[in-house]
Amino acid sequence: MNPVLIIFAHPALQKSRVNRVLLNAAQSVPGVGIHDLYERYPDFQIDVAHEQQAMREAQTIILQHPFHWYSCPSLLKEWLDVVLTHGWAYGSHGDALKGKRLMSVISTGGPKDSYQKGGANHYPISELLVPFDQTARLCGMEYQAPLLFHGALHAEADVIATHAAHYQKLLTTLTTS
Ligand SMILES: Cc1cc2nc3c(=O)[nH]c(=O)nc-3n(C[C@H](O)[C@H](O)[C@H](O)COP(=O)(O)O)c2cc1C
Repeated sequence: MNPVLIIFAHPALQKSRVNRVLLNAAQSVPGVGIHDLYERYPDFQIDVAHEQQAMREAQTIILQHPFHWYSCPSLLKEWLDVVLTHGWAYGSHGDALKGKRLMSVISTGGPKDSYQKGGANHYPISELLVPFDQTARLCGMEYQAPLLFHGALHAEADVIATHAAHYQKLLTTLTTS
């Protein structure tokens, strides 16, 4: 049983600079389970029972992905659509996720200062992540502060490595709290 479950979505992992390093770092943390959606479901046919069972067993669910059009890659959206079902995740009898944590771990191409009024991306990231925050709320989950890595396209390898080490520590803490 893994207390932390990472739902990982990257449609082109072979080209990744940031998420691949973070994924490698996460793989070595005991108590962390990883569902790599694009590897497991290249045909978008998600095994809902399998996904729900892993979520039942976890206390913290992490959605890790690159930011794509101010949201998640499409297979993660499909995962949310088919796995978080009425009567299971939400609705009057849907309490399977109640009290669990939900956290976003996201990389963005845009630099940090582009995510503000007047910047190229205009909105603060907290506003763009409202759909995830509210999804957690509807399911009775606690939405955690997201772990963000901005400026992914031009980041130096040592900055990515430092971020990965921080992610590893955070995961270790989450497995025991
Ligand atoms: C289809 C697509 C949409 C993207 N949309 C955004 C976006 O909305 N905001 C942003 O900052 N970067 C955007 N990017 C850049 C990615 O977030 C960036 O390439 C990624 O975080 C790098 O992570 P990686 O090294 O793991 O691939 C987009 C990239 C692609 C391919």
